[in-house]
Amino acid sequence: MNRPKPTSLGAGQDTADRVRELLSRMTLAEKIGQMCLAEGGHDHPPAVLGDDLRNGSIGAVLNVVDVEIVNELQRIAVEESRLGIPLLVGRDVIHGFKTVLPIPLGLAATWNPDLAREGARVAALEAAKAGVNWTFAPMIDVSRDPRWGRIAESFGECEYLTSVMGRASIEGFQGDRLTDTGSIAACAKHFIGYGAVESGRDYATTNIPDTELRNVYLRPFRAAAEVGVGSFMTSFSDLNGVPGTGNRYILSDVLRDELGYGGFVVSDWDSVRQLKIHGLTENDRESAYTAVTAGVDIEMAGDAFGNHLLDLVEQGRVGEAQIDTAVGRILSIKFQLGLFENPYTDPGHLPEMASNRALNTARDAALQSIVLLKNEGGALPLAMDRLRSLAVIGPLADEAYEQLGTWVFDGDPGLSVTPLQAIRDVVGDRVELRYVRAMANSRSRVGDEFDEAEKVAGAADAVLLFLGEESILSGEAHCRADISLPGDQVELVRRMRLTGKPIIAVMLAGRPLTLSNIVDDVDAILFAWHPGTMGGPAIADLLFGREVPSGKLPATFPRIVGQIPIYYSQKNGGKPPSTETVVFIDDIDAYAPQTSLGMSAFHLDTHFTPLFPFGHGLSYTEFDYKDVRASAEEIHPGGTITVSAELCNRGDREAEEIVQLYTRDVAASITRPVRELKGFRRVRLGPGETTTVCFELNSDDLSFYGQDGKRTVEPGLFHAWIGGSSDADCRTRFRIVA
Ligand code: GLC
Repeated sequence: MNRPKPTSLGAGQDTADRVRELLSRMTLAEKIGQMCLAEGGHDHPPAVLGDDLRNGSIGAVLNVVDVEIVNELQRIAVEESRLGIPLLVGRDVIHGFKTVLPIPLGLAATWNPDLAREGARVAALEAAKAGVNWTFAPMIDVSRDPRWGRIAESFGECEYLTSVMGRASIEGFQGDRLTDTGSIAACAKHFIGYGAVESGRDYATTNIPDTELRNVYLRPFRAAAEVGVGSFMTSFSDLNGVPGTGNRYILSDVLRDELGYGGFVVSDWDSVRQLKIHGLTENDRESAYTAVTAGVDIEMAGDAFGNHLLDLVEQGRVGEAQIDTAVGRILSIKFQLGLFENPYTDPGHLPEMASNRALNTARDAALQSIVLLKNEGGALPLAMDRLRSLAVIGPLADEAYEQLGTWVFDGDPGLSVTPLQAIRDVVGDRVELRYVRAMANSRSRVGDEFDEAEKVAGAADAVLLFLGEESILSGEAHCRADISLPGDQVELVRRMRLTGKPIIAVMLAGRPLTLSNIVDDVDAILFAWHPGTMGGPAIADLLFGREVPSGKLPATFPRIVGQIPIYYSQKNGGKPPSTETVVFIDDIDAYAPQTSLGMSAFHLDTHFTPLFPFGHGLSYTEFDYKDVRASAEEIHPGGTITVSAELCNRGDREAEEIVQLYTRDVAASITRPVRELKGFRRVRLGPGETTTVCFELNSDDLSFYGQDGKRTVEPGLFHAWIGGSSDADCRTRFRIVA
């Protein structure tokens, strides 16, 4: 497409010079226009937005993904406005675009940052082909409450794993250079603490002490700032009484002064005007004032900035220097993206949608995301030579759209290969395959097909039971107070159990579920999250042993919802539970005096451990860990130490294990978690092979933020574990000495 080059403002000059030069030519109204992000999802955006673009009162649009329309919007902005400033074009490209990868919680279960980077890259290439140059991803909110629908969109409960996966995603979206074809600006969201909403209810209040804020919720955002993420997005939620969008402490003191971040900050959808609803301001004018002085540079899908900032500056309440700082950050990313030189998208310069690279990446990601939670009696893998007939039962075996998961605005279910299709492809005519849906959907009550399902299952050699949640049961504003299997799925499991056949449950869901009420009734559980476009082939490859499961949980699976919050890196407390100290409700008569003696932190009606812990995931082989050791008994601050273990594959299958390193700071100026993930590595071993896995730790890796808000490395005793889960018991110790 040879459109005339827009006014070049001296391409090649240092970006800062170019920003200064352009700012010097802008009117106050044009500057404020750059701070406004308009929703473009109308019938015909150029007709609706054209005048605003011509007079420079919009600097960015979102939710326009027709490349011709995007180019028309850019043309109006570049060729029909006074200064020809191109637009940012934003979209939620969260886990794929047309080709959909597993939901981020599933991607986290791969513990594979290279895959996260490649997944973000293929997503960026597809989105850029549609004209998108800015994604509202990655979401790096540490999420420890599976009732929260947006845990699906997160990388789970661990700040370390979230930091690693978030950094890799940003690298994938932004590429080596933002000017590269297919590179799009990323957005670290939601700043900050959104994952800690009370009772897992979306948009609710969060109360996070400063040490917890720095040691947990801030770590992924610090990593994102360090890797050069193009933007940050504020959180809807109220943080300690001040909503993220109006919170000067986190948007200026922490983000700018402490992290030194130089990119721009966008509000969440209309969250500037929501400051009034929160009760932080009385009206939109005050909301605009509060947000812009707190540090918000662009208002998403609201008109507080457009209606009030000019007056606020002319009245002297907001300094024009503040506006220049905000607009400077916005212009800077536009220069870095090369938009002044190339504002238009030529889709012919980008790969086709659903390229082999995209589909292969989606399949690899799905394969590595699936977690084998349970496998008894050798139920898996299925041995084709011993199978005459298979029953496939359940409402989620053949749902091309549902397997994509939440946040798939542009996903194409027509590309999906469902589990049922993939299983059919594998077995062909060698095995008789009978499929009974049994339920209209996951929330259905006892379906009239339960009898049919029981009959078909009873006649088969094995039962593949596809259960879980549809995509609508997780994601933004889709939270659940009860996270057990919806509808009458538990009854369906019971009916399958009555057949006496081997039952393999395959779960599709956007969150950890409480499975205590079915875990003993099935022989194996493959937890597939929402595995995306290629979820079917990945599930089939694992079911029939063509591939070996390697996924590990990025979030704890509670026994019952009442255990929440329950996560691996909890504090020990002064009376931690142990099997000797707990009393159960059904033996309450035995011994339950109202006394604190010998009592500890437990619930009477459930065991104090989770059903499946963070980091858990089985294989088709057995991995043994032994001889965990530290390279020294003592290190000094600034020193390093190597923690190693011997890993043996004592089974008969070649397989990959995600080896995990955890530490505990046994005594410090503030109490520290009983375990903290400090490293992990994917190791492939053949049958009988042994290797030594080493992790190097420097004292900085063992630092934390103390009461004074400063990062510190304190002398003291550390424990270290290496294993295949957060409940690994192979432990060594070392000491930091002053
Ligand atoms: C939302 C979400 C945010 C998303 C934005 C644009 O409400 O909170 O994550 O990027 O709107 O769709």
